[in-house]
Amino acid sequence: MSGPFDKLVSEARAEFDAADSKPLREAWQGLGLADIRRDLVRRLAEAGIGEAEAETRHLLARVLAPDTLAQALADPALVSWQRIAHLADLSWLRLQRKPLSQVLGSQPFWTLDLKVTSDVLTPRADTEILVEAVLARCETDEAVLLDLGTGSGAILLALLSERLGWSGLGVELSEAALAVARDNAMRCRLANRARFLRGRWSEGLAGAAFDIVVSNPPYIVSSVLAGLDPEVRDHEPGIALDGGGDGLDAYRAILGDMRRILRPGGLFALEIGYDQGATVSALARLAGLAEIAVVPDLAGHDRVVIGCNS
Ligand SMILES: C[S@@+](CC[C@H](N)C(=O)[O-])C[C@H]1O[C@@H](n2cnc3c(N)ncnc32)[C@H](O)[C@@H]1O
Repeated sequence: MSGPFDKLVSEARAEFDAADSKPLREAWQGLGLADIRRDLVRRLAEAGIGEAEAETRHLLARVLAPDTLAQALADPALVSWQRIAHLADLSWLRLQRKPLSQVLGSQPFWTLDLKVTSDVLTPRADTEILVEAVLARCETDEAVLLDLGTGSGAILLALLSERLGWSGLGVELSEAALAVARDNAMRCRLANRARFLRGRWSEGLAGAAFDIVVSNPPYIVSSVLAGLDPEVRDHEPGIALDGGGDGLDAYRAILGDMRRILRPGGLFALEIGYDQGATVSALARLAGLAEIAVVPDLAGHDRVVIGCNS
C-alpha cells in the first residue's frame, strides 16, 4: 500500500539523491553551456548510456524550458546558476542509471505525454504496435474496453484518445500504479471515459462482457531478469516484468479466462516477447479463441498476438 507518508518519503529521497550532485555542480562551476554540454555527453557515455547525445539534449531541454538550447547557447545571460544546478541534479540521477523517463517524470506514448514514476513500467514504443493493431481492426464507433495490467494506463488511454465513443476499464494489481494511471487519465482529459480498478487480471470481474480486451502483461523469464540493463532491473517494478519460469504465467491466467470476459465476436490483443508468438498463439487456440494472428514490430519480431472470441 502507498499513502501520503510514502509520497513524502519518496520526495525526500529524491531530494537526498539530488544532494549527491555536488561533484557535478563543482565540475561545472565557471564553465560555459557548450562545455557543460560536452562534459555531460562524455559522462553519460562513460556510464554506459547508449544515446548520450540525445539524452543530454532532453535533460538540457527540461532545465532550459521555455528557452531553447540554441537560444541559451547564443545568450549566456539565459544560463543562470539555478538552471545549471537543476541540470546537475537531474544528470546525477541519470548517471545512477535511473531511466530518463523517471528522471524527467514523463514519457511520450502515442500522441500522449504520460506521467511516469518508479511504480510503473515506462511505456515503450513497441507497445504502440498493439494500439495500432487494435485501431486497424476495430472501426466501430462505440466499444467498451478492458486493459489488464494497465500500469500507467498507456494502452487504454491511447485507444480512448483515438475513439471518442469508446470507454474502458483498466485493471491493475499495484495500488501505486493505479494512482499513476488515474493521474494520467486526468492529465489526458480522458477521466470521464476511463475507470480503474484494483484486481488480479480478470478474476474479480463478474458478469462482464467487453468488446475489446488488451494487455501487455509481464513476460520476461524470471531467470533472465538479473541480466537486464540497470535502468530496467533496478528501477522498474519487478511485478511489471517477471513472467515466471517460462515467461508465460500471465498469458495462461489471462487467456484461460478470456472467453468469459470477451463478448462473442469481440477482439483481444496481447503484447508478447520477440520469441513468444508460437507459444502464446497455441495458448490462445487452447483457450478456444479464433482468428489468431501474430503482428510483428518494426524490427520484424513477434510483438502482438491478436484474435477474437468465436
Ligand atoms: C508490462 S507492464 C504493462 C504496463 C502498461 N500496460 C504498459 O503497456 O505500459 C504489466 C503490468 O501488469 C501489472 N500486473 C502484474 N501482475 C498483475 C496481476 N496479477 N493482475 C493485474 N495486474 C498485474 C503490473 O503491475 C504492470 O503494471
